[in-house]
Amino acid sequence: MKFRERRWGISESQVTPERLLLSRREFLGRGVGAAGLAAGIGLGAGPAIGAQASGGAALAAEPNPRFRVTDPRTPEAEFTSYNNFYEFGFTKDIVRAAARLKTSPWRIVVDGACDHPFEIDVDDLLKKVALEERICRLRCVEAWSMVVPWVGFPLAELVKMASPKSDAAYLRMETFLDPKMATMQSAPQYPWPYVEGLTIAEATNELAFLAVGAYGRTLEKQNGAPIRLVVPWKYGFKSAKSITRFTFTAKRPVTFWQELGPSEYGFWANVNPEVAHRRWSQARERRVGDDERVPTLMYNGYAEEVAGLYAGLGKEKLFM
Ligand code: MTE
Repeated sequence: MKFRERRWGISESQVTPERLLLSRREFLGRGVGAAGLAAGIGLGAGPAIGAQASGGAALAAEPNPRFRVTDPRTPEAEFTSYNNFYEFGFTKDIVRAAARLKTSPWRIVVDGACDHPFEIDVDDLLKKVALEERICRLRCVEAWSMVVPWVGFPLAELVKMASPKSDAAYLRMETFLDPKMATMQSAPQYPWPYVEGLTIAEATNELAFLAVGAYGRTLEKQNGAPIRLVVPWKYGFKSAKSITRFTFTAKRPVTFWQELGPSEYGFWANVNPEVAHRRWSQARERRVGDDERVPTLMYNGYAEEVAGLYAGLGKEKLFM
């Protein structure tokens, strides 16, 4: 606890204040002043009484030897306590607030430009896929990183089930919308629900993954239970948590962060150490756990798997 507090002080002032400040400034700048805060749209709102207990049931899965990294694995306690989940607060400390997330039953809708739209409970979806474990890097745009053993299945499996039509160029993903459960969704200045998107080529790349667990257990609520995206070659904000809808579409979706700050957050958001954020460098990252500062890798170390996806797209802003 003491260590966390000390580290919080160091990291938040040196590495990640920009995002938090941006959030708060925009929050206030969009008309939520002191009155709004006093009315209950406060930062880091408290937990519910009688909130559901956290997840964490054992979840067995075969390790996939294709996806391993040499970097040290982030301690599980860090992964489950240092989070970004804006639906539950604008700090890293949202575990108590996220306990309100009701993850069962959890319906998922798959619709849009596809031959086989469907609606399914996440438990039934899991009966149709083989789970695997893969150890991947997670690089947040705020310049911190983790190495996480995820459990889940390739996003390509879900795409295959839906059989997209030829005009489906994108897959749009949407998180739940329930302001009673997620206090921050009462802030109308934000474009809730959280939306993310990938091209179909990205969504069917072998690296794109739907995680339902980590560290050999089902996902904790604060980590995006019961099902979240993992796209390790992109900044962490692309990896949408607690997804309820997948929609195939011909039109490029406008994502949550793009809508909030289009000059700083784009659709592609591929990791590139040479392309700085408008307000800070992306050349290095702080490894959560040992706090070591290490160089950031092109496509977060996954260039071999994904660089080919972007051939001929040089005019796009691929790295923000
Ligand atoms: N998904 C939703 N729905 N809401 C969020 O605020 N934050 C994103 C991403 N997915 C976010 C989200 C960001 S900025 C990051 S870095 C990762 O989740 C963090 O995932 P973690 O807390 O499991 O490490």
